[in-house]
Amino acid sequence: MKLYLDTANVEEIRTAAKWGVICGVTTNPSLAAKEDQDFGKILPSICDMVDGPISAEVIAMDYEGIVREARELAGVHKNVVVKIPVMPEGLGAVRTLSAEGIRVNVTLVFSVNQALLAARAGAAFISPFLGRLDDIGQSGVELVRDIVDMIDLHDLDAEVIAASIRHPEHVPAVALVGAHIATVPFKVLEQMFKHPLTDLGIEKFVSDWKKTQGK
Ligand code: G3P
Repeated sequence: MKLYLDTANVEEIRTAAKWGVICGVTTNPSLAAKEDQDFGKILPSICDMVDGPISAEVIAMDYEGIVREARELAGVHKNVVVKIPVMPEGLGAVRTLSAEGIRVNVTLVFSVNQALLAARAGAAFISPFLGRLDDIGQSGVELVRDIVDMIDLHDLDAEVIAASIRHPEHVPAVALVGAHIATVPFKVLEQMFKHPLTDLGIEKFVSDWKKTQGK
């Protein structure tokens, strides 16, 4: 399973890119709105920092507007993947854009039916939102498992991005049900490194080594 970073924060992306573990970035309008800079300036910087798929979302909700915005976003850099919500006008746009070679990440997916529709329209990526489903008492991990199984069973092309990941335990859970990608917030990425025995082990290695230096 590949790891993407779910943020529009340039500093977080710069730091995570140095750690060498992420191969893509996902953003959305809410994440972009948290930043001081205009997203139009942020997107090219992100593309310079990470050489992999960078998802940027359209704001328009009608077919013509979605297609227009998507072409503009895709024109920023070859790695830009356009994010479009799963809805009738959106999927019509996915069909048009995928025929032009523009990759689309269909977002806000909460059911296997929505994932099937996205795949049939030509989505390159499908993003089920785990955390938001957990929030309403349904299992986000089970949804990811069912979508992955459906894609495998019917030999569909889309990759599943487990999104709306809220805590480190979500990551192995979606890896074990076969998600192709997990997109994680920076805080979760940091938490994934952590284990108290690793910290204790490092401390002991360093202090043992220092003792030999005095001999
Ligand atoms: O990738 C989608 C993600 O950003 C949504 O996360 O925590 O707002 O549900 P959240």
